[in-house]
Amino acid sequence: MAEPVLQLSAISRAFGSGDEKTRVLDDLDLVMGAGERIAIMGSSGSGKSTLLHIAAGMDRPDAGRVRIAGTDLAGLDEPELTRHRARHIGLVFQDFNLMDSLTVSENIELPLWLNGIARREHAVSRLAEELGIGGLLDRLPESLSGGEKQRVAIARALVHRPLLVLADEPTGALDEVTAASVMALFEEVTRQSGASLLLVTHDRDVAAVCQRTLTLSGGQLH
Ligand SMILES: Nc1ncnc2c1ncn2[C@@H]1O[C@H](COP(=O)(O)OP(=O)(O)OP(=O)(O)O)[C@@H](O)[C@H]1O
Ligand SMILES: [Mg+2]
Repeated sequence: MAEPVLQLSAISRAFGSGDEKTRVLDDLDLVMGAGERIAIMGSSGSGKSTLLHIAAGMDRPDAGRVRIAGTDLAGLDEPELTRHRARHIGLVFQDFNLMDSLTVSENIELPLWLNGIARREHAVSRLAEELGIGGLLDRLPESLSGGEKQRVAIARALVHRPLLVLADEPTGALDEVTAASVMALFEEVTRQSGASLLLVTHDRDVAAVCQRTLTLSGGQLH
C-alpha cells in the first residue's frame, strides 16, 4: 500500500495545568491516504482547530506522532519543519491569517516564494478567477469582505499544489452558492493533483464532498 499522506498516532494534547487542565485530544489516531478527502465535524471547543494545527506542525502534541509523507515531524528542527510544511501543506486558517501589508496577489503567491518556485502568473490568476476574486488581485486584505478574504486564503492554500490541504471551516464566511462553488473547486483541485483534503466544517452539505466524515468528541475521532 502507498505511504499515508498523513498519519496521526496516539496524539494527546492538553491545555492549562493542575485542576484547570483540559485534555482536548486524547490518544487520537488518523490515517489519510493519497487523494482522500475527510471531513471533521464536532461541537465548538471539541478540538478541531487544535487537531489541524498539530497535523500542520504548527503546534506540537504532548504525546503521539505526526507523520507527513512518511516524515516524523518530531525529528525536524524548526527550519526543517517550516520547509516541510511549506512544501507539502496548504493551510486555510479559521481566521484566514492573511498578510496585511501584501496585496491579494502577493498573499496568494506566498507559498511559491517560500518554496522557491518561479512565479506562475497564470496559476495565480486562474485560481483567483475560479474563486471569483480575479478583480481583487491588487487590493490589500483590509479592504476585502470576510468572504473575499476567505477565498484569498483558499487560493493561497492551493497555489503550490500541496500534498495535503488542511482547511478549517473554509466556507464559514461564505453564502450557500459561493460555498458550493468553493467546495467544487477544492474537489477538482484535489482530484487533479491527487492531494488529500482534511476539512473542518459544521455544514453537512460541505462535508458531502468528502468520502468520509468523522466526528471529534471526547478527544477522539469517531
Ligand atoms: N493555546 C491554547 N491555550 C489554552 N486553551 C486552548 C488553546 N488552544 C485551544 N484551547 C482550548 O482547547 C479547546 C479546543 O479548542 P479548538 O480551537 O481546537 O476547538 P474547535 O473545535 O476548533 O472549536 P470551534 O468550532 O469553535 O472553532 C477549547 O476549549 C479551547 O479553549
Ligand atoms: Mg476551530
